[in-house]
Amino acid sequence: MGKSSKDKRDAYYRLAKEQGWRARSAFKLLQLDEEFNLFEGVTRVVDLCAAPGSWSQVLSRVLIKGEKFGRSAWEDKERKDRLAVLKASVIKKSEQELQEPEGEVPEPLRPRENVKIVSIDLQPMSPLEGIITLQADITHPSTVPLLLKALDPESYDPSSTSAAHPVDLVISDGAPDVTGLHDLDIYVQSQLLWAALNLALCVLKPGGKFVAKIFRGKDVDLLFAQLKIVFERVRVAKPRSSRASSIEAFVVCEGFNPPKGFKASLDNPLGAAQKLPVDPEKPRERTKLYRRLREDGITELELGSDEEKEGEDVRWIAPFLACGDLSAYDADASYHLPKDRVSLDPVQPPTAPPYKRALEMRKKAGGAYGKTKGLI
Ligand SMILES: C[S@@+](CC[C@H](N)C(=O)[O-])C[C@H]1O[C@@H](n2cnc3c(N)ncnc32)[C@H](O)[C@@H]1O
Repeated sequence: MGKSSKDKRDAYYRLAKEQGWRARSAFKLLQLDEEFNLFEGVTRVVDLCAAPGSWSQVLSRVLIKGEKFGRSAWEDKERKDRLAVLKASVIKKSEQELQEPEGEVPEPLRPRENVKIVSIDLQPMSPLEGIITLQADITHPSTVPLLLKALDPESYDPSSTSAAHPVDLVISDGAPDVTGLHDLDIYVQSQLLWAALNLALCVLKPGGKFVAKIFRGKDVDLLFAQLKIVFERVRVAKPRSSRASSIEAFVVCEGFNPPKGFKASLDNPLGAAQKLPVDPEKPRERTKLYRRLREDGITELELGSDEEKEGEDVRWIAPFLACGDLSAYDADASYHLPKDRVSLDPVQPPTAPPYKRALEMRKKAGGAYGKTKGLI
């Protein structure tokens, strides 16, 4: 696919290059922030599966540089839109009162204090100012001490399995190299999610947030039910920049509140086979789902709260939200390219892509498209 064609068929890919983001994924985090105000009061963050680093760039620009994106930029835009509507309305308000300041003075940047951001990926990541990057496997137990040490180098205690100074937010955009075999891809993705959750349990502070990519497979509601035991609110979100045709979505978990006595453990990590203990003192919000197939072939779902009966497998369904401004680009649509557009190279080419060796071999054999005689 040529550069122009990809720019046309993927507006977010083009925008990412134009706005200096290392990957189009930046827009997913920004649109999640628009809906959930993720960065409010946040100074300590862990970014899992972070390469090439567009989510870390968002963190760096919002927390370290104090720029306005996502929610706060959206609030600004709302204010300006309201002002424009008021100006155009017949209300005889003093014109001056509604006037924007002449030549609009840019708002000063508001960098936050004591920001700490640690980013982890299997792949090496090009450095980003103010961010600690670790090359490690998030599914490996040895990554936990690495992370704890990176978060608190001075007060790190090797015998501890939790952070001395816990973090406000853990984000994970982990994705395996997809094989196209749906069930296998969903399984590997869920292993990444459990690994991310286990790391989050070790480092999150009470009330903290966890945002992670999921693939919506058929048993995803079991995962929601487990997350609901450790977080006050669990929602699933689909940002506009994530293709509607993909099963990708994001769980947004707020209000970290594990059951009493619960301790994250490296020897016995949570996973699909290991369930969280339920806190008997914590009121549980359970929802019962009734499914009925009508004669015309339509499935009716009826949701209703119900008392849990002994031994009954009651599942909890997480609320689902689409996020991102409706006027934002549709990730599945092709757009005409602006006339003044210049085709740009990606901001950060992959440092060590899995196809690197194949490219080298192809180059050695005389290049692409039919010139690779020597390869076979
Ligand atoms: C979709 S990319 C993340 C994009 C990133 N959020 C950004 O904004 O640039 C998925 C990443 O997951 C990483 N990954 C996959 N399995 C991993 C693992 N076991 N440990 C750490 N990183 C992993 C991949 O190396 C890849 O860089």
